[in-house]
Formats: sequence, structure tokens, C-alpha cells
Amino acid sequence: MARQRTLYQCQSCGYSSPKWLGKCPDCNEWNSFTEEQRVTKLKSQSVAEPVALPDIAASHGSRVSTGILELDRTLGGGVVMGSVVLIGGDPGIGKSTLTLQSLKGLTNLGMVLYVSGEESPEQIKIRADRLKIDSADIILLPETSLEGIISTVQKLKPKVLIIDSIQTIFSLELPSAPGSVSQIRECSTKLMFLAKKSGVPLFLIGHVTKEGAIAGPKVLEHIVDTVLYFEGDKGNPFRILRAVKNRFGSTNEIGVFEMQESGLQEVDNPSQLFLSEKPENVPGSVVTVSLEGTRPLLVEIQALVTASNFGQARRTAIGVDYNRINLLVAVLDKRLGMQLGGMDIYVNVVGGLKIDEPAIDMGIIAAIASSFKNKPISSELFTFGEIGLSGELRAISQPDIRIKEASKLGFKKGIVPVNNSNSAESHDIDIIGAKNVEEAIEILMF
Ligand code: TYD
Ligand code: MG
Repeated sequence: MARQRTLYQCQSCGYSSPKWLGKCPDCNEWNSFTEEQRVTKLKSQSVAEPVALPDIAASHGSRVSTGILELDRTLGGGVVMGSVVLIGGDPGIGKSTLTLQSLKGLTNLGMVLYVSGEESPEQIKIRADRLKIDSADIILLPETSLEGIISTVQKLKPKVLIIDSIQTIFSLELPSAPGSVSQIRECSTKLMFLAKKSGVPLFLIGHVTKEGAIAGPKVLEHIVDTVLYFEGDKGNPFRILRAVKNRFGSTNEIGVFEMQESGLQEVDNPSQLFLSEKPENVPGSVVTVSLEGTRPLLVEIQALVTASNFGQARRTAIGVDYNRINLLVAVLDKRLGMQLGGMDIYVNVVGGLKIDEPAIDMGIIAAIASSFKNKPISSELFTFGEIGLSGELRAISQPDIRIKEASKLGFKKGIVPVNNSNSAESHDIDIIGAKNVEEAIEILMF
């Protein structure tokens, strides 16, 4: 028995309503409801067998390397058999390139079925030639219907399945257009069952909307096991692959790549790369250390403070949280008496990185203070630490690996929270502990 029902669904968040609405009550998007047909199948209930925890046989060793270390790391040490991985990112960022390059390692498993709804096999062939990928185990399928894909998978029995992109795939059973919420949910759920049943890893490629969410949205993130975001600026060759959800590993791991003529190259020493263009003796630039997963990353923070020409002072934050900047500016104003009220302030994390760790507070505040006072901070210095509202410098996690990385890259002196200052023992580096912002700024700039 099938009951047909019309409902209206928000194309931005998947919220559904029996009536059309102008504004989504869930995500506040305007004019995002479209009519969709939902077929609710009423089935007899099947009862699953309960199992005791020790009786479950879980295979731990079933991870496969993609041949790209940075990608393996982000996945938590390789691809888990039967898992569903969603790779999201802006159009043109390099999702298809990364996936194609990972086939070098994945073809070790056997046949890979690459379903492309966006590019023709000729286009993929040209790209593969450029990337020097040439394996008879890679089978291309230019298909967009879910039913067609499933029947091909059942016939060919591939060992890896790739869908590029999920927004182009549609099921003939649903009347709505490809890319709509119900199509994406239906197609990804069916494909997920297919992957789980046959134990093959499934990669879904997904586009990202203007707001930065994967189009066809949260529903997709719930279904898959792992969500990787590929980020970076168009004008910048660096690309960061970030795990935002991972059922098989840590979520704060990142992979760093550089887009070159010959495809994506792994960057094994990102700190060096991010600092390679740091200007010497220029006010408003300072180096701080962020921790991404298990990996310390030295980054340059730049600030520019100029007198505002208009009534309202501008605050611009690129790569860091806007509210954090306002908070830190307020601390500078109150604790150090720097009158930043009438100043335009721009803060940028160099290299297109996005960091939301409070450990870089000290870096942001030092860059702003340095630009405001027009005094450069020595290139041999680095600083980190979280800043509290009363201007105190708070200890942060894992200071030793941050200091070690800075020492490795030739930094001579670090200004850190006082409670972190005894963790530098064996390194050839001068570590100074500061109790609060006043002290730290004093040491940094004079
Ligand atoms: P692509 O993987 O097609 O992006 P997506 O699948 O995320 O939409 O990447 C396309 C961009 O990458 C394109 O602008 C050109 C660039 N590119 C290189 O610079 N070098 C290369 O070797 C390849 C294959 C692509
Ligand atoms: Mg693509």
C-alpha cells in the first residue's frame, strides 16, 4: 500500500510543511519552499535481533590507503570499507581532481566505478591524462539516474563507487528535480544501503551553497559517515581538506594541498609554506601557532588599523571569527587604553586558512596593537594564548608541540601564557611567560 502525499519542503534545510510558506521557520530562508511528492510506503515491521556487545565481530583493520597521505590522515588513517564519504566544496575548488587522484591508491582494491553526472568521459580522460592516471580498473559511467547506477553496480560489482556529484543524480520514482532535498535524500540513502550491503567505500561529491553548507543540506550530512570540506580561495593555490564529521576518526584533522599544473600536490610542511612570504619588519604582522588535530601549524596574522573616514568604524575579519575581533578590540581598549573606537580594523589569516581556536587570540591582539602603534614585531618572535575578558592570558592545550614546531622553523623566542611557559625544556628556544595582555604586548614590541 502506498499513500501519496503532497508536501512543501524547504530547499535550504529540508524542513517540510503541509502548506506553502514564504519563510522557512527553521532556517529563516525566504521563498525556499517547493512542492514535492512523498511516497510513504507502509511496510510490515521487521524485528532486528538484539546482540550482546562482546559478541559483535568488528573488523578493525579494514582501512585502505588512497595513496594520498593528506587525504588518508583527514579520513582518520585511510578509507573504511563500506563507509560513505561526502566531499563538499565550492565549484572549481578541486573535488573531482582530488577524487581522481585518489584512484591511484584505490585501484589497488580492484575496479572503481566513477559515475559522472557533470563531465563527459572525454573530459575526465583529458584530466586523467594530465594527472598521469591510467588504469584499466577505472570505469567511467556518464549516468544520472539512480536506477541506472544501481543496476550497473549490481552488474559490474565494483570495489569502489564514486558519485560526482550527488546533486546531479535523480530517482525516476520521484517527480521533483535533481538537486532538490527529496531527490538528494532518496538517492543518497539508496546508495548508502548499496555501499553498506556490498561493503564498498562510497564517495559522494557535493556542491556547497553560497552560505557554505552542502546544498541539499543537513539531510545529507546525517546520512553519511564522514564529511570532508575542501576549502580555499580561488586566487590562492592552497587548499585545505577538513573533516567536519567522522564516525571513524577525529574531526579536527586537516590535509593541506597546493593546486598545481599537475594536479593537487601534498604539502607536508604547511607551516613553512604559510610563512614563506612573511614580510620582515612591517607593523601589523605576527606569527602564532594553531593546532589542527594533531598537527601544529604556524600562521601569520596580519592586521591593518587605519583612521575611519566614516561615522561607523569598519571591522573586517578574514579567516577568524568576527565577534572574536570585536571582543579583543574591547580588551585592548579597556586594558591598554588603545583608542580603537574610531579606527577601521582589518584582520587576515594569511594563506586562506580559517581558524577558530582561541589559542590564536594573542596573535590577533598583537597584530592589531602592532599596526596601531606602527611598531613592527621581530620576525624571530612568535606568540600564542587565549585572552580572557579581564585581559588575562590563559593557558592553552598542548603547548609543547606548538613550541617544538616553532623551534623547528627557526624561531628564537616565544611569548606564551605563564602557565604554559615551563613546557619548553628540551628545545633550543627562549620562552617567556606573560600573565596578561599588557605584559605580553610590552615584551613583543619593545
Ligand atoms: P575540479 O576538480 O574540476 O573542481 P570541482 O570538482 O571541485 O568543481 O577542479 C578544477 C580546477 O582545478 C580548475 O579551475 C583547474 C584546476 N586544476 C589545476 O590547476 N591543475 C590540474 O592539474 C587540474 C586537474 C585542475
Ligand atoms: Mg567536479
